[in-house]
Amino acid sequence: MARQIVIDPVTRIEGHAKITIHLGDDGGVEDARFHVTQFRGFEKLCEGRPFHEMPAITARICGICPVSHLIASSKTCDALLAVSIPEAGARLRRVMNLGQFVESHALSFFHLSSPDLLLGMDAEPAQRNIFGLIRANPQAARDGVRLRQFGQQVVEWLGGKRIHPAWVVPGGVSSPLQPELRDRILEAVPEVLEIAQRALADFKRMVDDFGEEVRTFGNFPSLFMSLVTPDGGLELYDGKLRIGDAQGNIIADQLDPTDWPEFLGEAVEPWTYLKFPYYKPLGYPQGMYRVGPLARLNLVEHCGTPLADAELAEFKALQRGAVLSSFHYHYARLIEIVYALERLQQFLSHPDILDTHVRAEAGPNALAGTGVSEAPRGTLFHNYRINEDGLMKSANLMIATGHNNLAMNRAVLQVARHFVQGEDLPDGILNRIEAVVRAFDPCLSCSTHALGRMPLHVQLCGPGGEVVRELRRD
Ligand code: MG
Ligand code: NI
Repeated sequence: MARQIVIDPVTRIEGHAKITIHLGDDGGVEDARFHVTQFRGFEKLCEGRPFHEMPAITARICGICPVSHLIASSKTCDALLAVSIPEAGARLRRVMNLGQFVESHALSFFHLSSPDLLLGMDAEPAQRNIFGLIRANPQAARDGVRLRQFGQQVVEWLGGKRIHPAWVVPGGVSSPLQPELRDRILEAVPEVLEIAQRALADFKRMVDDFGEEVRTFGNFPSLFMSLVTPDGGLELYDGKLRIGDAQGNIIADQLDPTDWPEFLGEAVEPWTYLKFPYYKPLGYPQGMYRVGPLARLNLVEHCGTPLADAELAEFKALQRGAVLSSFHYHYARLIEIVYALERLQQFLSHPDILDTHVRAEAGPNALAGTGVSEAPRGTLFHNYRINEDGLMKSANLMIATGHNNLAMNRAVLQVARHFVQGEDLPDGILNRIEAVVRAFDPCLSCSTHALGRMPLHVQLCGPGGEVVRELRRD
């Protein structure tokens, strides 16, 4: 009898989703799916709103990556205003974006994934959480808290409030940077940079203990996509799109993100609300691509900061061509924390960072606009259409977790096939199925367009589709 396993909720990821594992007659895994079960129709809610309210509205899509939406939305509004924003305004937006990268990557690595990495995939579930980590490795727990706090502070200090900062606005930012604040942030950087380097060194030491996970956690050829600078460097705020393949070849470069509907398609499957984006020239599902830290580091030739560049060289030496194991999202994420801190230091040290001209003022000059940036989880697209009065006719968002949907499904299937045999599902195996999803750091708040944190769930189903085992954890 074939059986089905469902994991719902996947613990320690943000939002609500479900994993279903289908067993065949021989007890082996026939199919496995990662589905998103809630849909709020956020894009619909925006219709009729004045376009300049969109940054504040879309920042509320998500309590995890509000700054990413704020930035992509404000860039979309810049396009509607048809203005170039002042350089100091752009730099300040970048600083806030980097603060969120540090915060979000630290949350993902230390709070959500390091219990698996430092305590082991098979550790007691009651221990394998942030509290168990505090007991077993107080230094790592403290480091995680400090890094996340620093990122939060940068966002909060710049924005005035942490969760929904309204400081990033159409045309730039609403107020210039005060010298005391610049100095306060710069003073803290060396300490947090040391923490980030220590975490990275620890990760590199322990990765050998996870050989089986490295081999099976979403380790397959795919395309990769991210923004890059004109000379192929790491770019988290602006730039053009690059698409590369598993062998490390660049197959498309400096694509204008505004043209994304021409090269990115979105397939729909009846069993999930989350769409399946794919690279159109290769079709569906062969056009599967990954975004986020792993994709970015696979695609760029340099980061542009000294410590991160040294780490990047080491990272690229892991594998000829692209680094294919999704387990290495963790590795790439830690390198990006180092990069974000170095880059933030560079921007804040720029002679014009205190310039008071930080916002361009204009009315709407275009009826459609696109804004793209890199969120911690990957490329984020906003596209708006407005009428002559500046009221929203439509909003179309393409989020990082959506881009990774095909790859996350493939990754869950790979882990399930490797570790699951029959109806017995030990906790350590269940945890690996969830851990591979956590490696991608999906933002389910964004994918479900639902507010707040929600849990995910695993179902094991038989050949006839009947649920034989069901697990819900919060
Ligand atoms: Mg959309
Ligand atoms: Ni989000």
